[in-house]
Amino acid sequence: MCLPEQGNKEPGRAGDPAPGVGLPASVSQPPPLPSARDLAVRLLSRAASRQESVEDLLAAVLRRHPGLPRRERALLLELVQGVKRWEIRLDWVLGQLAARPRKKVHPLVRAILRVAAYQLLFLSRIPARAVLSEAVALARAHRLPEAHAGFINAVLRTLVREGPPPLPEPAADPVLFLSLAHAHPPWLVHRWLERSGFQETEARLAANNRIPPLTIRVNTLKTAREDLRLRLAREGVEAVRGSWFPQSLVLRSWETPPQEAPSFRQGLWLFQDEAAMLAGELLPLRPGLKVLEIGAGRGGKTTHLAERLGNRGLVAAVELNRSRLKELRGTLRRWGASAARPLLADAARPLPFRPGTFDAVMIDAPCSGLGIIRRHPEIKTRLCEADLATFPPRQRALLAAAAPLLKPGGRLLYVTCTTEPEENEDLIRAFLAEHPEFRLDGAPETLPAPVRPFLEPLGWFRTSPGRDGLDGFFAAVLLKRRPVQEG
Ligand SMILES: C[S@@+](CC[C@H](N)C(=O)[O-])C[C@H]1O[C@@H](n2cnc3c(N)ncnc32)[C@H](O)[C@@H]1O
Repeated sequence: MCLPEQGNKEPGRAGDPAPGVGLPASVSQPPPLPSARDLAVRLLSRAASRQESVEDLLAAVLRRHPGLPRRERALLLELVQGVKRWEIRLDWVLGQLAARPRKKVHPLVRAILRVAAYQLLFLSRIPARAVLSEAVALARAHRLPEAHAGFINAVLRTLVREGPPPLPEPAADPVLFLSLAHAHPPWLVHRWLERSGFQETEARLAANNRIPPLTIRVNTLKTAREDLRLRLAREGVEAVRGSWFPQSLVLRSWETPPQEAPSFRQGLWLFQDEAAMLAGELLPLRPGLKVLEIGAGRGGKTTHLAERLGNRGLVAAVELNRSRLKELRGTLRRWGASAARPLLADAARPLPFRPGTFDAVMIDAPCSGLGIIRRHPEIKTRLCEADLATFPPRQRALLAAAAPLLKPGGRLLYVTCTTEPEENEDLIRAFLAEHPEFRLDGAPETLPAPVRPFLEPLGWFRTSPGRDGLDGFFAAVLLKRRPVQEG
């Protein structure tokens, strides 16, 4: 991960730790409700200076303030995700207007400026006057020195008066142009330009900035899609059918946050992109089989595998991260997926199973996540170029450890949510070269119709935000050969 942002710690709060984000202190009274802008500023400032995940902080803030009015909650989400989506452009614009170098700016001032500039440049419904006065008021509320409030005021006034500076010409510096126009780091733009050329790269960057649909997968152990759609309507959530996967719905509008609906608590659905749902269909499964899942996370695909077994048989769901495993247990309980058994373990090391135990294996590999930027825009500023090299060794280790646990004749499904060949087809090719007992199984006729449009001639499964409106997933199915019988 990249280094935390630097900033001078100036009077008022000199030497303080980064500002809190409304996380529990030792208080017995519920705190007064802060505004969405205040919460967004504190959260973004803390995430930047401590290298914490914006999404994790956002979840903590929403838990901490359950009484936040619906509009404020929506604005908080919009501001935080919007700033992360456009941060690279916002910083450039602000840098052009401000006299002092970015590193010299106090973290809170930087966050206030980013939130204000996002509203001025991307949210037409909020009047500029209100944005400016809120920004200055926030600086004062945080007891920043008056000079900081003055600096914020001056920069934002210039932005309102003169508008954003023009972007550099694409022909003069295509990397810089694309990086600023679409708010992606230059190293990533450079990488994709080399591989795909200007047009394809630009389409891809633009797709990464489109807000994705909120899709859910229906729990077929408990209900059917149309029944759930009607149930959701009674709960104040409007949903329509998904485009690709037969058990998907797209949420269009809601009166209260959908995950607070009783149907969610009763395990009738979970959030999942349709690309992840399609990947869950790539193994031919039937009731009673034994499946090993590596990298079970919070259970998105574990529940799917259990359903595909008719909840009979076994899904051994291995996860390394303790807190994710806890969430996985909760998901499985809600889902009624009794065939799935969570296991806390490092799957890069030998697991407690005999060779040939499993009829099928799914590796949902830890990866750079470059296919899911549209859902997790903070990836653009959290991931560094040097991080890319850290994934293939981990992915290779998981494949090598899982391979002997699969029965001859069984299939291993390898899945990532990234677009990089080093973590996808190159990695699988190298694995096949070292493991002649496996071969690529790309036969579309054995697979259900919804996945076929995404199979390439060689057998790779690939989805893309630009082409399909789906998260960017990659998958390959490997068949383990049966030993040749002698005589
Ligand atoms: C792509 S995410 C899983 C997403 C999840 N399967 C889903 O559908 O929502 C990869 C997961 O692999 C886990 N992981 C990483 N290294 C691991 C290892 N050595 N052993 C087991 N799990 C690992 C990570 O903690 C992470 O939860």
